[in-house]
Amino acid sequence: MQLTLKPATTADLPLLQLWRNDPAVRAMSRLQHEFDAEATRRWVFEGGRRLYLAWDDGRPLGFVSLEQRRQGPECEVSIAVAPEMRGLGMGSKILAMADKVASGAPLVAQVRIENIASLATFRVVGYVETSRDDSYVYFRKE
Ligand SMILES: CC(C)(COP(=O)(O)OP(=O)(O)OC[C@H]1O[C@@H](n2cnc3c(N)ncnc32)[C@H](O)[C@@H]1OP(=O)(O)O)[C@@H](O)C(=O)NCCC(=O)NCCS
Repeated sequence: MQLTLKPATTADLPLLQLWRNDPAVRAMSRLQHEFDAEATRRWVFEGGRRLYLAWDDGRPLGFVSLEQRRQGPECEVSIAVAPEMRGLGMGSKILAMADKVASGAPLVAQVRIENIASLATFRVVGYVETSRDDSYVYFRKE
């Protein structure tokens, strides 16, 4: 297995739209409505985030999104694995690779309290819980 992260391109938009509209991804996102092609393009290229696809020898496995916080040096991370590839250890491998593209910025994440798989994934990769409220667990990794 040769995992690489590559910045999203226009050619990746149909796949990113499919993944972003997956019910499990929508349910765990802050914006839960379905994205059409134009909303997907704006999400990928105009939202102030950097989106990377994870590839294994030409096969796309999922995406990582990094969003620079307006105040402070932190980058907010989110991740999704292609539906057919979940539960196989890909999420933790892909998330671990986000460190390399974050250029040393502290990484933070906000995970829904009911998202057991994601909570486990962030913990496995070394993210530390900094706080929680009724809806979210907040993580940080230096
Ligand atoms: C969350 C997600 C990225 C995890 O990726 P994954 O490839 O399925 O997870 P992995 O197989 O790498 O597992 C990582 C850890 O989570 C645990 N895990 C995975 N799926 C689980 C599940 N359904 N229930 C409980 N634990 C689970 C694994 O056991 C592993 O922990 P361990 O090493 O301590 O055993 C993936 O399930 C996904 O894309 N979900 C939909 C989108 C989403 O919720 N994104 C996160 C938003 S913050």
